[in-house]
Amino acid sequence: MTAHLQSNLPALPISDANADFIGRARHHLIGGQWVPSASGATFATFDPATGDVLTHCAQGEAEDIDRAVKAARKAFESGPWKALTASERGRIIWKIGDLMLEHADELAELEALDNGKPRAVARAVDIPLSADAFHYMAGWATKITGQTMPVSVPYAPGARFHAYSLKEPVGVVGQIIPWNFPLLMAAWKLGPALAAGCTLVLKPAEQTPLTALRLGELMIEAGVPDGVVNIVTGDGESAGAPLAAHPDVDKVAFTGSNEVGKLILRAAAGNLKKVSLELGGKSPNVIFKDAPDLPAAIAGAANAVFFNHGQCCVAGTRLFVEQDVFDQVVEGVVETAAGIKLGPGLDDATEMGPLVSQEQLERVTGYLASGREDGADLLVGGGRQGDRGYFVQPTVITGTRPEMKVVREEIFGPVLVAEPFTDEADLVRRANDTTYGLAAAVWTNDVSRAHRVAAAYRAGTVWVNCYNVFDAALPFGGYKQSGWGREMSGEALDLYTETKAVVVGL
Ligand code: NAI
Ligand code: MG
Repeated sequence: MTAHLQSNLPALPISDANADFIGRARHHLIGGQWVPSASGATFATFDPATGDVLTHCAQGEAEDIDRAVKAARKAFESGPWKALTASERGRIIWKIGDLMLEHADELAELEALDNGKPRAVARAVDIPLSADAFHYMAGWATKITGQTMPVSVPYAPGARFHAYSLKEPVGVVGQIIPWNFPLLMAAWKLGPALAAGCTLVLKPAEQTPLTALRLGELMIEAGVPDGVVNIVTGDGESAGAPLAAHPDVDKVAFTGSNEVGKLILRAAAGNLKKVSLELGGKSPNVIFKDAPDLPAAIAGAANAVFFNHGQCCVAGTRLFVEQDVFDQVVEGVVETAAGIKLGPGLDDATEMGPLVSQEQLERVTGYLASGREDGADLLVGGGRQGDRGYFVQPTVITGTRPEMKVVREEIFGPVLVAEPFTDEADLVRRANDTTYGLAAAVWTNDVSRAHRVAAAYRAGTVWVNCYNVFDAALPFGGYKQSGWGREMSGEALDLYTETKAVVVGL
């Protein structure tokens, strides 16, 4: 059952299936064929636990994007996809979810290898959630409906009309996704686009292209017709930018940094393509002293920021604790942080893996240095762990001022800033004092306060006495600069459909 990575890698036991998968250079999926880049260029993807090369993938450039968009356009206009009934389309999407569950161990291992997250976490969270995203959206394929409207047409007295609306696929879609939940982000994007009847070009993150490519194979096996899903790998400038700018792409969906979100908007302006964005966060997690179970709130606060090594757009990075219990809560989170076992994602004893890349290692340790220079107190962690791979210690920071970079900016690492509060109204003001608005949480036993604070938060998701609860049925997205539009739930279909009004004179 085990094999070893090829080339100059240290021997890590992995399954034969994945040894074979990474043992060959990976190509783009265009028009149902696996093809190298037009230029022949490739790029390396790395093992974050060691920094060694895992394998090479085709480096997509404008010409590859153009070929993929042409294949998607052809599949949208004339291919078998259009001829399928909604039920047939739904069954193919359901089958994708089934195949993901069938290959769950293999996908979890591949995700752990490429992204660095613990294999057990990928197996318990990423893979089932990704499969569920397809199963959930499969059901929507047959439920995308318009309405009938009674029209009055005041300037045509006596005339009679029958009017209704149709929901139609928006067309060819470009989807650009990040590296923190590589397979899940692909599933969130692909599921609703396919349910709506779109065709698409997916551009995975250059740090983590492998599970999307394996998913491409599974989608072919599930019966997705040629050209409906195209996957072009490569970095943001060479492959992402030409996709966002392509004049024959009708809509672009993006998840990633705010900086690139703005570039996507500018690129999309050329042909005024539709845009949806899921961007960053600096989410407040608030613990009142009457939290129903303080130890659970402490564990929740640690999970909110340390899950996925803090590489979560919803990470609860700003912890506000009512003064009376501040020391107790901070002590508890510090203790949790100190006890987290860092290691390679493939080691089953690992609780937290490395960050995804050298770039993120430098970014996150840069923030830790800035916190220190600004005079904040780093109570635990505070730096890189070891000198191999991209490991950063779970860190808890107190003694901050509101203007500090560690308080204001998204760090995207296992770094928590904790502050005390005394007054609810002031707390709400401070919690909302951010350009972001993705998620927020409150821990309290007071039901009125829970609803009051939930209503006052300017954020797309609010958790009460819990954190990091995700489900395909929950709409997800951001207020303020955290994005445009909602993914998952029935609302995700709005991102991939146009509404057509039809009026019939009677
Ligand atoms: P990024 O925004 O550069 O990358 C996300 C995706 O966009 C990748 O597929 C990338 O190839 C693509 N991309 C990059 N430049 C592009 C361009 N000019 N045109 C089109 N596509 C482009 O994020 P990066 O640099 O990997 O991470 C930087 C920071 O962004 C993180 O520290 C974190 O704060 C934030 N981030 C937020 C995520 C979220 O889930 N909201 C996910 C990843 C990063
Ligand atoms: Mg970037």
